[in-house]
Amino acid sequence: MNILAIESSCDDTSAAIVADGIVLSNVIAGQKVHEQYGGVVPEMASRAHIQNIVPTVAVALQSAELTVEHIHAVAFTQSPGLIGSLLVGAGFAKAFAQARKLPLIAVHHMQAHVLAHFIGNPKPSFPFLCLTVSGGHTQLVLCKSHLDMQVIGETIDDAAGEAFDKTAKMLGLPYPGGPLIDQYAALGNPLAYKFPSSPMLNYQFSFSGLKTSVLYFLQKMKKENTNFIRERLHDICASVQHTIINILIHQLKKAAQDLGITQIGIAGGVSANSGLRAAVQQLGTAQNWQVFIPDFQFCTDNAAMIGITAHYKMLAGQFANLDTTPSARAIWPNE
Ligand code: KG4
Ligand code: ZN
Repeated sequence: MNILAIESSCDDTSAAIVADGIVLSNVIAGQKVHEQYGGVVPEMASRAHIQNIVPTVAVALQSAELTVEHIHAVAFTQSPGLIGSLLVGAGFAKAFAQARKLPLIAVHHMQAHVLAHFIGNPKPSFPFLCLTVSGGHTQLVLCKSHLDMQVIGETIDDAAGEAFDKTAKMLGLPYPGGPLIDQYAALGNPLAYKFPSSPMLNYQFSFSGLKTSVLYFLQKMKKENTNFIRERLHDICASVQHTIINILIHQLKKAAQDLGITQIGIAGGVSANSGLRAAVQQLGTAQNWQVFIPDFQFCTDNAAMIGITAHYKMLAGQFANLDTTPSARAIWPNE
């Protein structure tokens, strides 16, 4: 069974073909237009999706060496995300499904980030605890099976990706700043500057205090030396990244210990961060836990994860229909 999967929740237009749980192709068209604005401009994102979606699907089919006649089901991201962006993907998927008389599968974006772990090998077994860290979310997800997931903790304010991106913006770096901070952090001293990282209760996360503290710190240092950011960029990036990672790893470790879980993983855009990848590996080694980290291409937004989720939903008989509407809010499938 070949599934055509579409992901368009934010600023990447992606299409993938997943055949019986195997990813045949995964094509991502990024949108450079947002770089200059320091964040995603929703209206521009929707317009770019409209321009990108047909060619992206065409390339996904071509790379899988298939044509539209070979597709047996169509999947799309239903929620959460920017509503205009979601509507483009959902509209395309529905039109394709209706034209070809194919079943539709609606996918939850954050559930798909977790299920990116089931694209490659080895795959986690259950129970599996996944720290999902993206531009819009930071969640600890307890997975009892592929489709039975429970969010046991999340951020009460900013997401981890936002903490990276907002720091980058304060440093004058373009959007999205996370990958750049990662790059510069590798050249700096993570202990050069100290920022607050007090742990929250109940597996919660908070990054807004860190953001304010970085802002005040930079204002103070720039008063003393106008070239401070330029001269100490690597150390600033390394120190902020170190603090974000400490906050994340502390809660992941605590939750896994409390629940007695020995299979842990990270997912979402921030799981591409080299410091976080190393820290979670270290945690696994120290605790004798098995650690799962998706390939880079399946960390940030991609349609392969939508396709793999659709594969499990199809096996469970969970189909959508033409009345299934996208939603900006993160409604988990079992809510
Ligand atoms: O999952 P994702 O692609 O989109 C959302 O669902 O939000 O995550 C995007 C986020 C952005 O905040 C981006 O800066 C961050 O992931 N990101 C990184 C890295 N690569 C992407 N953050 C830190 N280090 C990276 N290497
Ligand atoms: Zn995402």
